[in-house]
Amino acid sequence: MSLFDVYPLFDVTPVKADGVFLYDAVGKEYLDFYGGHAVISIGHSHPVYVKALTDQLQKIGFYSNAVQNPIQSKLADRLEQLSGCKDYDLFMCSSGAEANENALKLASFHTNKATVIAFNNSFHGRTSACVAATDNPKIIAPLNAQQQVRFLPLGNLESVEATLKAEPICAIIIECIQGVGGLDESTTDFYKGLETLCNKYSTVLIADEVQSGFGRTGDFFAFQKHGLNPHIISMAKGMGNGFPVGGILIHPLIKASYGLLGTTFGGNHLASTATLAVLDVLESEKLMQNVNEMSAYFIDKVKTIPQLKRLKGRGLMLGLEFDFPVASLRKKLLFDHSLFTGSSKNPNLIRILPPLTIQREHIDTFFNALEQEL
Ligand SMILES: Cc1ncc(COP(=O)(O)O)c(C=O)c1O
Repeated sequence: MSLFDVYPLFDVTPVKADGVFLYDAVGKEYLDFYGGHAVISIGHSHPVYVKALTDQLQKIGFYSNAVQNPIQSKLADRLEQLSGCKDYDLFMCSSGAEANENALKLASFHTNKATVIAFNNSFHGRTSACVAATDNPKIIAPLNAQQQVRFLPLGNLESVEATLKAEPICAIIIECIQGVGGLDESTTDFYKGLETLCNKYSTVLIADEVQSGFGRTGDFFAFQKHGLNPHIISMAKGMGNGFPVGGILIHPLIKASYGLLGTTFGGNHLASTATLAVLDVLESEKLMQNVNEMSAYFIDKVKTIPQLKRLKGRGLMLGLEFDFPVASLRKKLLFDHSLFTGSSKNPNLIRILPPLTIQREHIDTFFNALEQEL
C-alpha cells in the first residue's frame, strides 16, 4: 500500500532525537529550528517526559471519558496555576483543529448564532468549521465552503464593528500572532477593541493559541501581552511535546451540559501525563525565561544580517523576511548545514520555531550558516 501523497517530503529520515537535535540512521545530526512545526516545546525525548509517559504506560494508558481521571483534573489545576488563566474550565481533545472546531461549535451553541469572523491570512486547521475560517481557498472543499465566515483585514476595527452590526456573529477567532500566515501581529488597541466589541454584540472571542501557546512567545499565551480575557482559548502543539494533545479553556460565562462536547481520546491518561510533564519542565527549567533571553539574543544577532528585510514575531515564534523567495535558502540550510527551519504562506519568510530549550551556541550555529549562504 502506498501512502496518500499529500506531503512534499524532504529526503531526511530522523530515527532518534535528543533535546534540540535530530539524528538519522547513520548518526548525522540536525539542529531543529522548526520543532516539527512548533510542537517540540521542552525538547525532544526530554528525560522527565519519557519517564512520566513510560511509568504511566506501565499503569494505564487509556480509558474513555466515562470514568474518573484524576490526571486530567490535576492537569487542569496545573494549567490554571502556570497559565494564570483563573476560573476557566478545561476540555481536552487531540489536535489543534479539533480544539478550534470545539471552540467554534461551543460559541455557536452559546450564542445560538452561526456566522464567524476570521482574519485575512488566518490558519485555524483543516476540519469543517476551522478550515472554513482559514484564509486559503485551496484547502476548503465544497463541503466546508457551506460554513458562513467573513474574512476581514487584521487591525481594522471599523470593518469588524460594521460586520457585527450587519449580521449575527457567533464568534471572532484570532491568532494574536499569525503562524502559517507569516507572523503578523496587530496592536493592543485592536485586540482590546475586539474584546469590547465581542462583549457589546454578544459574540464569543476565541484566541487560537494552538501555535503561540505554552510559552512559545515568552508569555504562557501570546494574547497575555495585550491583557485580553478571551472567552475561549484553544491550545495544542507545544502542549504535548509531540504527543497528540489539544484542548480549550472555557470562560465561566459559557456553561457546560452533558453531551454538549465529547471525544473518545481527548485527555486520556497518556495525553494528560504528557501535558503534565510539559508543564513540570516548563516550570522547573524556567523555559519562558529562557525564551525571552534567547529571543533577545536572536534579535541582537539579526543585526549582523544586512540582507534581512524584516524580523517578525516574538519569543521563539519568529520570522525572517527577505526580499526574495527563501525555498532554496532553506534547502541549503537543511542539506548543507543540517538545520531545520520552517516555511509560511509568505514565500520570502523563514520561520524559526525551535524547542524552547535552545541556547546561545545553537543560535550562533544558525547565524553562521545563514551568513555563509547569503
Ligand atoms: C494557529 C493554528 N491553529 C490551528 C492549527 C491546526 O492544528 P492541527 O494541525 O494540530 O490540527 C495550526 C496548525 O498549524 C495552527 O498553526
